Amino acid sequence: MTYEEALHKLAPAGQEHLLQYYEEINEEQKKFLLRQIEDLDLSLLELIQDGAKEVEKGKLEPLGAVTLEEIAQKRDEYEKTGLEAIKACKVGAVLLAGGQGTRLGLDKPKGMLNVGVNKELYLFEQLVNNLMQVVKKADAWVPLLVMTSEKNNEDTTKFFEENNYFGYNKDFVFFFVQEMAPSVSYDGKIYMEEKDKLSTSPNGNGGWFSSLVKAGLLDKMEQLGVEWLNVFSVDNVLQKIADPVFVGATIEAGCVCGSKVVAKANPNEKVGVLCLEDGRPSIVEYYEMTDEIINSRDEEGKLLYNYGVILNYLFEIKTLTRIMNENMPTHVVEKKIPYMDEDGSQVKPAEPNGYKFETLVLDMIHMMDNCLSFEVERNREFAPIKNRTGVDSLDSARELMRENGIEF
Ligand code: UTP
Repeated sequence: MTYEEALHKLAPAGQEHLLQYYEEINEEQKKFLLRQIEDLDLSLLELIQDGAKEVEKGKLEPLGAVTLEEIAQKRDEYEKTGLEAIKACKVGAVLLAGGQGTRLGLDKPKGMLNVGVNKELYLFEQLVNNLMQVVKKADAWVPLLVMTSEKNNEDTTKFFEENNYFGYNKDFVFFFVQEMAPSVSYDGKIYMEEKDKLSTSPNGNGGWFSSLVKAGLLDKMEQLGVEWLNVFSVDNVLQKIADPVFVGATIEAGCVCGSKVVAKANPNEKVGVLCLEDGRPSIVEYYEMTDEIINSRDEEGKLLYNYGVILNYLFEIKTLTRIMNENMPTHVVEKKIPYMDEDGSQVKPAEPNGYKFETLVLDMIHMMDNCLSFEVERNREFAPIKNRTGVDSLDSARELMRENGIEF
């Protein structure tokens, strides 16, 4: 792309400022900048033309879960089915580690956070420890795919390497890098990071499967015989990965996907709820539900929309491959975006200063024909670290680690 072509592309969208330093930068930087402008998807900006809005939801209905009591009764049977699948290498695990953890304000990958007190214990390490429990039980390695982003790939891969993969078999660890999207100010101007670099951020965790395919890992999984992928977040220290009971229950239910859920702590808890939308499984955020829906109860007084998701899903690869090219909704999310100001100085805002564009793994659930809602005990499996203090923080996670007998 030439300078003129770039200007022609940017001007109608009011983004000419991206070329404002063009005369100051060297030839190589010019090429680099023009390549980014060429690849830029300006259609994303239309999403914020009338301010950020969410996609309208369809008709909502409750979706029951297999409950803790039901699971306890069939535990051995589910576990046997799950372990057989794991032994046959039919289950892979996908660690979503491409996020930036802006709420925690870290300047390194979230998985490098030391959650230990008396000894060093990194988030990545604890997740590997959790997975090792299954590996030992099944006496088989579970392929572990780690999604990173351009921003943290180098640090992440180096950290695994330096720590000898925390005892995991490195032949079963595969890294892949997710894609990026531009970050914009509230008035829709794309921020710049450097004079030759547009500000971009990871484009959400919804693109994990297409990025995995682009990295050639679907072929690899097929070679290994993997049929299911268990997707999970980096920041839940109690995360059970490739849980054989969950795998077995999903297979036995004949479902194409499963989602771990916890009973809500109270009707207004700010979690995404797994329910039905226009007859298909769907995860609906608390702010997308009316008070009436949030508070509706069955004859026994139990909340009808009772099960919140914890970002632990099991997907059948066959179905993922089929839906891979379908469009997913893009969410416009307010975030703190570091940028370069008019004078060329770097600014690290303390408050949100613009939007990022993200697709979300939770939207994949609505693309599935069915989904097993699988209840787990909150205090055994859900200790997310999202915030610096208070709810879902390192402190609350440590308390739960203590409760679960994890040494740290
Ligand atoms: P969050 O939505 O909590 O985002 O991610 P985050 O980036 O970790 O934190 P904040 O919101 O900026 O504070 C849930 C999971 O999805 C991954 C994260 O790494 C985490 O495991 N994720 C998120 C990605 O892999 N890529 C993304 O673009 C965003």
